[in-house]
Amino acid sequence: MHAGLIASAQKLEHYEIAAYGSAAALAGQLELRDDQHLLHESLDEEKRMDALLTSLAKSQINQDAVAV
Ligand SMILES: [Fe+2]
Repeated sequence: MHAGLIASAQKLEHYEIAAYGSAAALAGQLELRDDQHLLHESLDEEKRMDALLTSLAKSQINQDAVAV
């Protein structure tokens, strides 16, 4: 159950990472540096959350899921 929730949350994070990454690249192409900077900050935030979820899953939750 918890492993499934984490996997679903990570699916959303990956979607956000793709979206912010693409938007930041477009802002860069348009030389919108302030917007690009903000989009990179959001991108980094999403990456940190993804890493946190990975850490959480690997620490115990995935082990619990296979032990049931
Ligand atoms: Fe997110």
